[in-house]
Amino acid sequence: MEYIKLEYSGAVATLTINRPKALNALNSAVLSELSAAIDEVSASSARCLIVRGEGTKAFVAGADIAEMSNMTSEQALEFGRLGTAVFKKLERMAIPTIAAVCGYALGGGCELAMACDIRLVSDTAAFAQPETGLGIIPGFGGTQRLPLLVGVSRAKEILFTGRRVKAEEALSIGLCSGVYTVDELFPAAQAMAEKIASFPPNAMRATKLAANQAFAANVDAGISAENRIFAACFDGEEQKQCMDAFLNKKK
Ligand code: CAA
Repeated sequence: MEYIKLEYSGAVATLTINRPKALNALNSAVLSELSAAIDEVSASSARCLIVRGEGTKAFVAGADIAEMSNMTSEQALEFGRLGTAVFKKLERMAIPTIAAVCGYALGGGCELAMACDIRLVSDTAAFAQPETGLGIIPGFGGTQRLPLLVGVSRAKEILFTGRRVKAEEALSIGLCSGVYTVDELFPAAQAMAEKIASFPPNAMRATKLAANQAFAANVDAGISAENRIFAACFDGEEQKQCMDAFLNKKK
């Protein structure tokens, strides 16, 4: 695999999104490898999974804007369905998952973290759903999972403004479970994963399966709608203008 690293330490698997030159942005190739890596972990004897990004600047800076910029609405529908299917597979893994979020978790990065069971973050972490400013909506489940985690009103405020939610605020609104220094974050995630992995595996799987019933049906219905609404954004002018503006700033 080019963009995903998988490592095992005892009963804990660590999956690293490894595309640091683009701040670990998610293109179709990364998403396909992520899907295969989740299958590999599910088939292994791992009892807990940590998801992280390579480096300390970004967990994941979003879906790949360069890839999305020229998409038709049909291609955007396919891209949104790929991302949401992979994230749903992650969310429904039998074993618990922990996102170790160091630095930026923007757009699809925030959505990836929210598809994990637990989020532990660095004191440098910043979450956001900046899609409105790009002329689109979150396309990998963010419109559904953010309200579940922080409540509908606060989720709408975060979605509508695209503002950054820093670590301490994320803790206070339930978007994460703990804040650590950059140096402490990954050891803390490993320690929590080892603790989870030490419990009887069938009871752990049963607990996750039951807890997922609290939201699974609603998320599934909402994500189908999100897929269609996300794709429709690619029919208008706003998406192309906004994404070109982001890409041209680089030149
Ligand atoms: N897609 C593609 N490339 C990205 C990217 C993204 N989402 N985020 C960063 N990169 C690339 C940059 O283009 C740049 O590449 P080059 O060196 O080749 O120019 C490299 O990563 C480093 O980024 P910057 O030079 O921009 O670094 P910075 O420190 O100045 O800024 C940042 C960092 C604030 C995270 C900025 O990169 C940024 O705003 N990125 C975009 C964040 C964003 O809008 N994410 C949401 C995407 S939409 C989405 O995710 C939709 C969905 O739900 C499906």
